[in-house]
Amino acid sequence: MSSIVCLETLKAMKAYHNQLPTGQKVALVPTMGSLHDGHLALVKEAKRRAQVVIVSIFVNPLQFGPHEDYEKYPRDLKSDIQKLEPLEPLTVFAPLVTEMYPRGPSRTVLTMPSMTNVMCGLGRPGHFDGVATVVCKLFNIIRPDLALFGKKDAQQLAIIRQLTRDLNFPVEIVGVPTVREPSGLAMSSRNQYLTPNQKEQAAFLYRALLTGKTLFEGGERHAEKLMREVARILQEHHIEPEYISLVDYDTLAPVNTLVASPVILALAAPIGRARLIDNVVLEP
Ligand code: PAJ
Repeated sequence: MSSIVCLETLKAMKAYHNQLPTGQKVALVPTMGSLHDGHLALVKEAKRRAQVVIVSIFVNPLQFGPHEDYEKYPRDLKSDIQKLEPLEPLTVFAPLVTEMYPRGPSRTVLTMPSMTNVMCGLGRPGHFDGVATVVCKLFNIIRPDLALFGKKDAQQLAIIRQLTRDLNFPVEIVGVPTVREPSGLAMSSRNQYLTPNQKEQAAFLYRALLTGKTLFEGGERHAEKLMREVARILQEHHIEPEYISLVDYDTLAPVNTLVASPVILALAAPIGRARLIDNVVLEP
C-alpha cells in the first residue's frame, strides 16, 4: 500500500501539520505537477534535508497570461503520485483552484518591479507577481522550514529568495541544479509539446549558453560580446530568442562588465509550441 498522503484542503493541511511531532523539519517542494526527473531531484534533495517532505501540486491560474497555456497545461495527478511512489513516505498537497482562491482571483498581489520587469517578466507581464503570490500563500498554508526550487528557473529562484528576505518568512530557500536530458536540454513539463526534431533543435539552447560560458572562462568579460556569441549560435540553428540576458545573480540587474559577483546568462526562446528557458551561472 502506498504511504503517500494526499491532502486537498487547507483544513486537512492544518490538521496534518498539527499532528506532526515537534522538532521534525518540514520541507516544501512547490510544483505544478506533470512531474519529471527535474522535479524528482528536488524531492530527493528535500528528503536528504528534512524528515517531512510535502510536494504541492497546483497549476496556479494567477501566473498564466490570458493567451498562455493554462487550460492546456498537462494535468495528471494519478500519474504524478505514481512517479512519487518510489520516494515515499511523502505528503502531497493538491488543492483545487476554489480552495486556493475561494473568492475568485486574489485581490492581493505581490509586486517586485525591479526583479519581475526583466527577462521572462517582459514577455510574461504579471507572471512573477502570480508566482510570488502563490508561493507566499503556500508558505503560510504549509509553514515549511525549508523550500526547494530549481535553478533552471533562475529568475523565479532569485525572486523567491528576495521575497523571503523582504517579508521575513522563516523559510530556508534551497536551489537545486538543473536536471537535463542526455542532449543537454533542460527537463521541463513543456518539453511534451516538442516533436523529436524540435527536441534536437532545443538542445542548442544549452550548447549556446555553454559556448558563452567557455568564452567567459577564457577571459571574456564584456557582456555584449558574450551575448552576441550566444545569439550567433542560436541563429545558426534557426532559433529566434525572446531574450538573451546577463544579469546579477541576486538582484537580476543587467550587467555590462563581469567583474566580481556571480551573474546569470539566461535566455528564452520559442521552439514549436513551447516557450523554453535555460541559464548558466558565471562566477568570476
Ligand atoms: P514547475 O514548473 O512545476 O516547477 C516546479 C519546480 O521544479 C521549480 O522550482 C522548478 O525550477 C523546478 N524544475 C523544473 N524543471 C527542472 C529541472 N529540469 N531541473 C531542476 N529543477 C527543475 O515553477 C513552478 O512550477 C511554479 O512557478 C511554482 C513555483 C510551483 C509556483 O506556482
